[in-house]
Amino acid sequence: MSHQTVIVLDFGGQYNQLIARRVREQGVYCEVRPYTTPVADLRALNPIGIIFTGGPGSVYDSAAPHADPEIFRLGAPILGICYGCQLLAHHLGGRVAPAQDDAAREYGKTETSFDPACKLFQGLPARSVTWMSHGDYMEQVPEGFRLCARSAACPNVAICDEDRGFYGVQFHPEVNHTERGADMIRNFLYKVCGAKGDWTMGDYKETAVRRLREKVGDGKVLLALSGGVDSSVAAALLAEAVGKQLTCVFVDHGLMRLHEGDEVEAAFSKRGLQFIRVNAGERFLSRLDRVTEPEEKRKIIGEEFIHVFEAEAKKIGRVDYLAQGTIYPDVIESGAGDAAVIKSHHNVGGLPDYVDFKEIVEPLRLLFKDEVRRLGRELGLPEYLVSRQPFPGPGLAIRCIGEVTKAKLDTLRQADFIFREEIAKAGLAGAMDQYFAVLTNLQSVGVMGDGRTYDYALALRSVTTSDFMTADWTRIPYEVLDRVSVRVVNEVPRINRVLYDITSKPPATIEYE
Ligand code: XMP
Repeated sequence: MSHQTVIVLDFGGQYNQLIARRVREQGVYCEVRPYTTPVADLRALNPIGIIFTGGPGSVYDSAAPHADPEIFRLGAPILGICYGCQLLAHHLGGRVAPAQDDAAREYGKTETSFDPACKLFQGLPARSVTWMSHGDYMEQVPEGFRLCARSAACPNVAICDEDRGFYGVQFHPEVNHTERGADMIRNFLYKVCGAKGDWTMGDYKETAVRRLREKVGDGKVLLALSGGVDSSVAAALLAEAVGKQLTCVFVDHGLMRLHEGDEVEAAFSKRGLQFIRVNAGERFLSRLDRVTEPEEKRKIIGEEFIHVFEAEAKKIGRVDYLAQGTIYPDVIESGAGDAAVIKSHHNVGGLPDYVDFKEIVEPLRLLFKDEVRRLGRELGLPEYLVSRQPFPGPGLAIRCIGEVTKAKLDTLRQADFIFREEIAKAGLAGAMDQYFAVLTNLQSVGVMGDGRTYDYALALRSVTTSDFMTADWTRIPYEVLDRVSVRVVNEVPRINRVLYDITSKPPATIEYE
């Protein structure tokens, strides 16, 4: 089974995997290769197109990464992005220079006009916003090329030689800030490279399964399953690849939402793998007894998790591979590029020090969250697992302000369930990125029937965000908030007041503790 292939040639830019992801989302198979890859190897891949990424260098630096000029004779169309564009110009006879004045040095969102006759911009508006980040610019366009986009500060925003299929853009079409960037990449793939769109997430799954089988051989694999999307999809993928050799340990710390532990168990217990559920709720609760300080809670839960996991791992004995559901944004967050990393703030942080294994496998390492969800669907995971919103490792312990008790957790679980149920009924689940209830430690006076109550206030939190670094509170319709409030105070004992949090992040964080 072979697909049309696009090569993303990596010159060290920070968005390289994002470019790859943009190509994949257009239904085209793509591989990221270092710029040092010999041209013969690239030719062997028979690419329908090549994309040069951006990079931190300047083409004139002595240490700047360069392409082997032979690449221009492969016959494949080339799209150069930012540094890649300058490289194209430099190698094909143009001139690149540091921008002399601030005007031509562009950073950020830039109003840009395009020549709609150029295949890259066909069918798109003549003007739109692009996202720039370059200190050098093309002083002289190489022979055979023409200009096809300009901004107020810079006449040479994009160049093309359509006969040879060479295109260069100074801006970054792969980032969301470039309004029509995805369409430009699509145009390059379909109008220039002749892509047919012959690649799907199903194909990705097949390839990933094959590679995992090759890597793992007849080795034993251990995975700490948290029930979150990433570790669930990693588990399902590994189960498909090496089912019987995989052991998943699901530590149920008793801090999950209503029915969550059973849902995880139901999804995995029949997948032909060894599934161990450790019901450690009481153990965690006794360690959390009378602890009120948020960081202390986190620390205890993290440590206890390792202890429980370690005890189970010891029973299994030596394993060859420890699998983790690390996804690409985790890799970026930890700033480790391509080096093997273990997230310090990972749910199961520190694990590798304690468990005897040979190597780590991270089968989702190059995927973005939405791709992980699509892969999960492809693997037949139920929708409630695949579309699950982020859930913090310490679970409800950090949504139960102050002391954590079984009774408070049960109250919170019930209220949180009602909130989620009403959001789902209103068809709003897709419109918010994270939403949950928090049991505050504020008690206040209320009246119910003819009696006075002195019960807890429940806070509802919902945010809309793309990266969870900043977030806006969601404008949930009043009618929906009203239904949640009425149900919660009527159905959940010990809550007599419901508050809606209208603080964005910053200054607040998403969680309360
Ligand atoms: P904050 O509260 O920092 O949350 O705005 C940002 C995102 O991170 C999640 N979060 C955690 N995830 N362990 C985790 O695995 C943690 O200790 C933790 N604290 C916060 C939070 O749910 C949100 O999605």
